[in-house]
Amino acid sequence: MNRRHLLRSGAAFGALFAVPTVRAVSRAEDWIGKSKWELETPALCVDLDKLERNLTAVHTRLKGTGIGVRPHVKTHKCPALARMQMKAGAVGVCAAKLSEAETMLENGVPEVLMTGVNVTRGKILRAMELRRKHPGFIQAVDNEVMAADLQDAARALGVVADVVVDMEVFKRSGVPVGMPALRLAQQVDKSPNLKFRGILAYDGPSQHIKGHAARKAQTLQALAPVVETREQMVAAGLNLEIFSGAGTGTYDMMDGVPGFTDVQVGSYLFMDCQYLEIGGAGNDLVYEDFAPSLTVLATIINANHPSETLVTDAGSKALTLNQPPARVIGEPGFEYSARSDEYGMITVGGATREYRVGEVLEVIVPHCDPVVNLYDVLFGIRGDKVESVLPILGRGKSQ
Ligand SMILES: Cc1ncc(COP(=O)(O)O)c(C=O)c1O
Repeated sequence: MNRRHLLRSGAAFGALFAVPTVRAVSRAEDWIGKSKWELETPALCVDLDKLERNLTAVHTRLKGTGIGVRPHVKTHKCPALARMQMKAGAVGVCAAKLSEAETMLENGVPEVLMTGVNVTRGKILRAMELRRKHPGFIQAVDNEVMAADLQDAARALGVVADVVVDMEVFKRSGVPVGMPALRLAQQVDKSPNLKFRGILAYDGPSQHIKGHAARKAQTLQALAPVVETREQMVAAGLNLEIFSGAGTGTYDMMDGVPGFTDVQVGSYLFMDCQYLEIGGAGNDLVYEDFAPSLTVLATIINANHPSETLVTDAGSKALTLNQPPARVIGEPGFEYSARSDEYGMITVGGATREYRVGEVLEVIVPHCDPVVNLYDVLFGIRGDKVESVLPILGRGKSQ
């Protein structure tokens, strides 16, 4: 029983203070075994049956292609889910930021490739300290100054650090392909305290291209210069164990990319409105490879005009983006706006019934990664019951 229930049930204050501490009775774990519809909202939930199907679906699809799975934990920031991904057969996981990588390595995830770069000396030193404690840490680099600083830090700490070179596929990160990439890879390879492990090439802009064929054509074209540079690296005698990239939108297209080793899928575990819209190999309108397992529960807090608008307690601080809008499960005619900080505003269209204050709606989120970053815990739901509480230990770890 939690604090709210004691208050709700009219328990005397004496009863409240009779329990050991107020903190102990408001623990998220106290919800285990209860119906999800009782949760205090906004609440972040994951349907465990769907999650488990998504987890295995990517391995099933890639079986026999020789391509591995190195899931990106920036999506869930949850070591328990990362451990589940490792158990399902991942070759390791990716992390975006140093603090995210630290959280994973310190919580039982043995292999973490940091896809983002560290450019300040302080962070480079911290990264090498992490490498000293955890041999499964791999760091991406995309410029020669950083590679030199990394070499200095690795030498100072007495480690030989694993490094991959991030290749520019679009103008956000990565070293330009061709000679600059080849030179950087050679610099890493020659650095006594660095070990060149291979390359990364994440093609972000292709992930949400609508239509499987159009997406495939775009990503293969975008990756062609990377493939050419990789061949130059091989010809120069470099040993590339890793050629990692792709995401949820392109994970099934990489067997046409020579040398490619593993997909860095993130959103596949949860899905979101952005990904549902892109279309898959069998259906150009809906992406059905993975099921939307992640939802937010929101309570209706105002229904003064029930045939026109409903107001919920889940605005932008619960759902972040509004593009595309969140979808209310079971009410396809509802238009959800999360533009307001604290309020979700629903324009009621074609409602299946009339709703009242206090009722709970379940919504599929616009984009999963930033939403997860807002919550302390993820409730694991089986059927309608809370089965587990998954702490999002990497929440807010953006440094
Ligand atoms: C470098 C990198 N790899 C992998 C991913 C995972 O992509 P997705 O969530 O689309 O599967 C991302 C997402 O932004 C990324 O930035």
